[in-house]
Amino acid sequence: MPVCAVLGGQWGDEGKGKIVDVLAEKAHLTARFSGGNNAGHTVKNPYGTFKLHLVPSGICWPDCMGVIGNGVVVDPGALLEEIDGLKELGIDLEGRLLVSDRCHLVMPYHVVLDELAEAARGDQALGTTGKGIGPAYTDKAARIGIRAADLFDLESLYPRLERVMSHHNAIIEKVYESTPVSLEYVIGRCEDWASRMRPLVGAVEHVVYDAIGSGKMVLLEGAQGMMLDLDHGTYPYVTSSHPTIGGASTGLGLLPRDFDSILGVFKAYSTRVGSGPFLTELFDDTGDLIRELAEEFGTTTGRPRRVGWFDSVVARYSSRVNGYTSLVLTRLDVLDSLDNIRICVAYELDGERVEDFPGSVAVLQKCKPIYEDFPGWDSPTAGVTEIENLPEGALRYVQRLEELAGVRIDVISTGPYRHETITVRQVV
Ligand code: GDP
Ligand code: IMO
Ligand code: MG
Repeated sequence: MPVCAVLGGQWGDEGKGKIVDVLAEKAHLTARFSGGNNAGHTVKNPYGTFKLHLVPSGICWPDCMGVIGNGVVVDPGALLEEIDGLKELGIDLEGRLLVSDRCHLVMPYHVVLDELAEAARGDQALGTTGKGIGPAYTDKAARIGIRAADLFDLESLYPRLERVMSHHNAIIEKVYESTPVSLEYVIGRCEDWASRMRPLVGAVEHVVYDAIGSGKMVLLEGAQGMMLDLDHGTYPYVTSSHPTIGGASTGLGLLPRDFDSILGVFKAYSTRVGSGPFLTELFDDTGDLIRELAEEFGTTTGRPRRVGWFDSVVARYSSRVNGYTSLVLTRLDVLDSLDNIRICVAYELDGERVEDFPGSVAVLQKCKPIYEDFPGWDSPTAGVTEIENLPEGALRYVQRLEELAGVRIDVISTGPYRHETITVRQVV
């Protein structure tokens, strides 16, 4: 199974980092293909606890290389800081990390524009991570972006930066009535980054093609989740990239036929950070209990995550768009202390049963979840490593999720550490 994609099935934070760290034992390389440092992937293993934002999560395996594909937007300052932080924790990336020369860069003015646009939206704010991701992808689509390779040709970069920044600074000053970003400051940053980024930037696609060609395992690490996809998510409450399988293809230059397995990672319940529709959201004590038990606070921003029940309408839609070959269910252990667990099986809209996820946010806001109730289980699932040792109630819950999603659950995660994993069927 040379190419395996690990994708977020819901609204992000499903535990992709943990799963990639587990599967990377066999991988030649782990690759990011979309998003930027809006991602926060937590990896806990014998070397420590790592909060990764741009560096792929397989990197704790000493023979695993990390690559950042063309579809990712890279803030060089954030990347270099992350690399330094990892070195302090004992993970040396020297010669093991490659960033595509085609990656667009998140520049200081993107971060400023992100913050100003959010503030201007008032109570309509999207709740972005404030990392400049939307403005960086906007510039990419507008064909005024700066790419990693441009750092090594500073002479032709300067006049381009001057033009782009005069455009952005006009908006900052005239629309947002705020302080412009200094061109000298940005040029200074680019000069600093150029020398340190030089050994990190190269032709990622060749490294990936060579690995695939020689039958080595390539593990793709999704960021965000299906419901935050720019096209398929709950627009406009989405991120500005494609965390779905199509994004994996364009974000690394892979062919559709390259994918051998596509894993959809789902939490045993749901969470969402930031604004936007979330039909199964809990506003009661159970929601607070799950948030506290599971420490549901954003890895990147520290914001409390919104918590709700598992939504199988979302799971079916997510499976349809991504063509999952298996599902990975994480955080089952978080439900251990609950007496009653609910699954949303469909929605109700004006008295009609809706099985398919609506395209319009306005329609979605009128839908109500239809639930099935499950009694809790009497012994913990935390740390269980064999399917036979799951309590009967937990097994029934997992089987019902599988039935409703229409895809086999082949891996179940029962804790944040590598060994706290049940492999029902081998996925790589
Ligand atoms: P990602 O963005 O998809 O990589 O997920 P995050 O790292 O943002 O959030 C997932 C959180 O759940 C992290 O703190 C993980 O350490 C933790 N985690 C992952 N799998 C499990 C699990 O099965 N059980 C528990 N209790 N925690 C888990
Ligand atoms: P990982 O990879 C959860 C959300 C933000 C906001 C929306 C847009 O850790 O799963 P952006 O900064 O991307 O413009 O914000 O997307 N968001 C995430 N939510 N996990 C993430 O990444 C996220 N990355 C972005 O909260 O609602
Ligand atoms: Mg996360």
